[in-house]
Amino acid sequence: MPKTFFITTAIYYTNSSPHVGHAYEMVLADVIARYHRLKGEKVFFLTGVDQHGQKVQQSAAKAGVPPAEFVKGISQKFVDLGKTLDVQYDDWAETTSERHKKVVQGILQRLFEEGEIYKDKQAGYYSVRQEQFLTDKERAPDGEFGPEWGEIEFREEENYYFKLSQHKEWLLQYLDKRADVVVPDFRQTELRNAVEKISGDLCISRPKSRLDWGIELPFDKDFVTYVWFDALTNYISFAGYDPNASAVATGLRPVGTDRSSESLGTAHRAVATSEFNAQPQEFRDRWSRDTLQIIGKDILVPAHGIYWMIMLHAIGFPDDKMPQLLAHGWWNLGGAKMSKSAGNIVDPFVLADKYGSDALRYYLMSDIATGQDADFSQERLIERYNTDLANTLGNLLNRSLTMIEKYRIRKLTRPQSVESNPVEEYGLRVSPPLAKIEYISAMASYAPHLACQVAFNLTLQCNQIVDAARPWALAKDSAEHEHLDQVLYTLAESLRIIAILISPVLPKAAHGIFDQLNWKMELSGREHRFSLADVEWGRLPDGHLVGKPVPLFPRIES
Ligand code: MSP
Repeated sequence: MPKTFFITTAIYYTNSSPHVGHAYEMVLADVIARYHRLKGEKVFFLTGVDQHGQKVQQSAAKAGVPPAEFVKGISQKFVDLGKTLDVQYDDWAETTSERHKKVVQGILQRLFEEGEIYKDKQAGYYSVRQEQFLTDKERAPDGEFGPEWGEIEFREEENYYFKLSQHKEWLLQYLDKRADVVVPDFRQTELRNAVEKISGDLCISRPKSRLDWGIELPFDKDFVTYVWFDALTNYISFAGYDPNASAVATGLRPVGTDRSSESLGTAHRAVATSEFNAQPQEFRDRWSRDTLQIIGKDILVPAHGIYWMIMLHAIGFPDDKMPQLLAHGWWNLGGAKMSKSAGNIVDPFVLADKYGSDALRYYLMSDIATGQDADFSQERLIERYNTDLANTLGNLLNRSLTMIEKYRIRKLTRPQSVESNPVEEYGLRVSPPLAKIEYISAMASYAPHLACQVAFNLTLQCNQIVDAARPWALAKDSAEHEHLDQVLYTLAESLRIIAILISPVLPKAAHGIFDQLNWKMELSGREHRFSLADVEWGRLPDGHLVGKPVPLFPRIES
């Protein structure tokens, strides 16, 4: 078992400002990271920016600014996005940083020495947008290259190639062995089909004569590294990977047992395991088969599913240390993927400013099923905010605290029977234990939209209890005072639990509810304010004084 749950997002191109699609991916990763912290796990959440490559060089040239300066400005906007959306990452990847460069060059040198990289000449059509040579496979049925490839040029040049096809059989066997390399599973099928078609190797260099904004090849100063090879390496370079760690040097493997170019078989596996064990402790604590890499469906094939898997295998990662890929869908606008090049972007800063970060996070997490696409709509955002957050959750908090203040001068009485029959009222059942089970299952399958539903069902049930029990009537009848205490306790205790359940998606609101319940961290006795272990009925003590009600989600009038 790793000591840490390691989660990553793709790193964002620094050729233009962030849009809602990027915000979605960051928040999705943040929610899953927060959920793991909620379970009491140590988390290492890595996100960041992809600063090299032709796209960036071109955008910088257009702006009339040197690339290094240009990427600084755009990178800052992604940092700001994380801050604005309460994305709590543990490290920030920037591919122009020295520590990253060293790892990329170390890996290249090693693969070169081991014969995994060779020099060759190629002539053909080249996609500037995708930064790759195209083959007939990429042609549309009409024989043309589709618009997804952007501008196409004919090129002839010498380059360095990574022996991708040599590892094709390994990758096929590996995908057959582990069914959840990619989530959702239909994407694994898509990947497998693509692997079957691998025919050539991967060009991992670009001549400096046409692109110099990249990491220089350690064995040839006339070339820089292909941006994907550079960018993919961020996942390990910022996690403490050492390309020079050697199993032979540390005595984990006898001299003479070289890593063979043979990709399959027990000899390779044994060598790979000893290589991995030679890595620094920090890296081994983080990296495991549970490492979760969140990416959009557009960069699964070939980048992550093929290049990355094979890169890891080639540098000696054993099969049981291969990460998991979660491929999410797209936020579309007007039916097309939101993207700068399509000119249909929505600015997340504007939305967060207008509606608050929680409102945007909630919409992005609740109105899309992970793996599927969704259409972005501001009307939907407002509708979901008003219905779920203002009318359901905000209203429950407000009316509950108002009644506790009015009928009990803010003081709760914990019913005697709290353990045996906590929450049956008028045939309505509020069941936090059941909600907890459903919630865990939703989060374990990376479905925050279902986890949100669980929390909101609980909220709805509490509102129904208020409507059925009519505390204002109970307050007038002295024979019903014990019953009134029971109802009020049920509401406050449910709110405490709801706050924990929503905390990964709605961190500000969760703190707001705890504050208004006057539920201090010291009272929970834990290091973190929110913990899944506290989703247990009856934690609010007898005589607990709740705070004053303050509107949590004022309605948005459109
Ligand atoms: N730099 C590469 C990734 C390198 S990872 C080693 C890249 N950058 S990107 O900025 O174009 O995209 C970054 C991530 O944002 C990708 O996972 C991509 O799928 C995601 N999204 C970009 N537009 C999106 C939407 N409209 N909707 C959802 N996610 C989208 O690719």
